Amino acid sequence: MKNIFKFFTVIVLALTSNQMMAQEKTTTILVLIHSDQGGTYELAKEVAKGIESHKETRAVIKKVAATENPKLKDVPLASVEELPTYDGIAFGSPIYFGNISTAMSEFLSKTVKIWSSHGLEGMPATVFMSAGSGAGRDLALQSFWNSLAVHGMVLVPNGIRGDEAIDKSIPQGNSVLGTTSLASLKGAERPSTSERKLAVLQGNNFAKVAQALKGTFAKGTSVVNSIGALNKVLQAKNIVLPNVPKPAGNYEPYVRSGNLVFINQVALKGGELLYAGKLGRELTEQQVDEATRVTMLNVIAVLAQAVDGDLDKVKRCVQLTGIFNTQDGYTKHAALMNVASDLAVEVFGEKGKHARATFGASSIPLNSPVEIQAIFEVE
Ligand SMILES: Cc1cc2nc3c(=O)[nH]c(=O)nc-3n(C[C@H](O)[C@H](O)[C@H](O)COP(=O)(O)O)c2cc1C
Repeated sequence: MKNIFKFFTVIVLALTSNQMMAQEKTTTILVLIHSDQGGTYELAKEVAKGIESHKETRAVIKKVAATENPKLKDVPLASVEELPTYDGIAFGSPIYFGNISTAMSEFLSKTVKIWSSHGLEGMPATVFMSAGSGAGRDLALQSFWNSLAVHGMVLVPNGIRGDEAIDKSIPQGNSVLGTTSLASLKGAERPSTSERKLAVLQGNNFAKVAQALKGTFAKGTSVVNSIGALNKVLQAKNIVLPNVPKPAGNYEPYVRSGNLVFINQVALKGGELLYAGKLGRELTEQQVDEATRVTMLNVIAVLAQAVDGDLDKVKRCVQLTGIFNTQDGYTKHAALMNVASDLAVEVFGEKGKHARATFGASSIPLNSPVEIQAIFEVE
């Protein structure tokens, strides 16, 4: 019996260490994009194909911001904190006025803490872009490089790779800095066959460089830890903050006045309502509880934005107001709102305790089951 046990232990240990070695050997490259119309996403898929044409290399496509485009619905959102954990990053963006897109620029502007801790230094990066006419495309590619150079990333251009195979009877988005696609030009479906081929070649070459540089720079998880104890609490409790929902009207996600931050959120998840309707008519209490948690997570995500990602700057949760989409005569609002209050205390501890108001409304914007108004005091 003892021997059988030993035999299985050895097998399990061997399998585990094999798996660990395989993970060590695999080069994982993030293909990080913003795309509104889907052009950049099409190029990203080709770049990923090129990356994965290498043995033991994996491409992960993620987006920097939510988009209305249904094609990108299932592409996961990237967090700033995960960037240093890859072996290389291929960045893709639409060209906006000879520059990177606003969403990509906003995402990169949140990488200050990673920059301070040298989190991307020495990591290889390459860029590709979807253009309209192609006006200013080299300027735009170069502007991408500016931010990445400040991070100390190793920039990998495309050179004249694939030039011999390009169909030169129509304009193509080839550039020595990286592939582009000329999406608004007539004469071929875009990305054109040649542009797709260039993107595959770019991915393939980039993977080769990333494999060669693997292990030469500090790949880390340390950045997540360095952005505050409360962020660690979120990690430990597996609480993932969503992206800040876009305002549905002429207002800001938050306003800071003095040391107070004012926030209002409804039950949006991934740009859509988690549930729509009224408690007791379309929705059960359990669904409203779920919607309340999602709404409070939105509130905390907005708050995190207000304090530049460092939740340790939150001095206390001052007041929460919960407005619920209920029928006449409903009285258990307090129990519904406890979901939000409990989450505030779970995340912020004593600092999460707050004054509170709750009430029912005959209707709520977008037919959300709940709206939460929050006031926080910050440093
Ligand atoms: C605000 C704005 C500025 C743009 N500026 C340029 C430009 O300078 N040069 C260009 O070729 N295309 C420009 N375009 C067109 C986009 O780059 C093009 O539509 C691109 O394919 C969009 O990428 P996507 O399909 O991934 O969203 C601009 C588009 C917008 C919305």
